[in-house]
Amino acid sequence: MSQDTELEAAMDPDLPLPATSLDDPHLREAVRNPEGAERAIAWLFVLGVIGVALFGAAYVQNWKPFTLGLTLGLGLFFLGFGVTAWGKYLMPQGPFSEARHALHSAQAEREAIAAALVERTGVVVKRRRVLLGLLGSGMGIFGIVALFPLLRSLGPLPGLTLTKTNWRRGSLLVDSNGRAIHVEALEPGGIVTVFPAGFENNDQTVAVDQTVLIRAGTTAIVTEKGRSTWAPAGYIAYSKLCTHAGCPVGLYEKQLRLLVCPCHQSMFNIDDGAVPEFGPAPRPLPQLPLYIDRAGFLRAQSGYDQPVGPGYYERTTT
Ligand code: FES
Repeated sequence: MSQDTELEAAMDPDLPLPATSLDDPHLREAVRNPEGAERAIAWLFVLGVIGVALFGAAYVQNWKPFTLGLTLGLGLFFLGFGVTAWGKYLMPQGPFSEARHALHSAQAEREAIAAALVERTGVVVKRRRVLLGLLGSGMGIFGIVALFPLLRSLGPLPGLTLTKTNWRRGSLLVDSNGRAIHVEALEPGGIVTVFPAGFENNDQTVAVDQTVLIRAGTTAIVTEKGRSTWAPAGYIAYSKLCTHAGCPVGLYEKQLRLLVCPCHQSMFNIDDGAVPEFGPAPRPLPQLPLYIDRAGFLRAQSGYDQPVGPGYYERTTT
């Protein structure tokens, strides 16, 4: 057939193209031994899965940063190498070209090529499901491991610590060394951070239990209506957690009788129920009601009557 006749035939959409067969060089795989390539690719996926899984373990166990990079790098390398090799060696390689006539293919033509592809794929990739399963495992485990940083960065659940402290009725006030606070312990103007006895070294709760105890005088102080018994012998106790952003309110300005937060300089008047007089803190510091037991030691009348620290979305008290 002359070149012109071939071209005419190609331009005629009604003339069927010859059916594609397995021997079509366009559909030939790029390797002599497809089964061997399939095995090699399966191993690459296995190594990829192991690498990503090791990355997850390294992250959870806090192994060295070097191991994080190495395991993640190797995992992604093997998975990517496997996908690339699959496309390169096991898929039909072409080149696919044909003289263009009408842009749609005849129905018979489409069916022929589809059948050839299905047949060829079935012949070359015998363990398609295995490969897909391994690739899916690699992608799946990567997706799960990618969630680890997000979840761990949220930190431990706060539990009841948002609303409850360990202060209870009768809790003995102790300093950070566990020494009980006697009524003679502080001079007027003195200040100390106290905790409920037994919880002074509890890493989980010291943040919410910490309470600043000030000896503001020598006689009972009434900071608000209804608190006539809360500050005996001049001792006033307020939560040390700033109601703005939770910094420890540990500075006491004796002359002005103000507690000062070092973070954004909120100032709380100790004689007025720790109402903020300056700064961004939106609420007073909760006051801990005190009493002096028969042995002369300071104890709590009860826990705080409201959550300590900054506001949060479920907080109902203002
Ligand atoms: S945390 Fe205390 S003023 Fe901001």
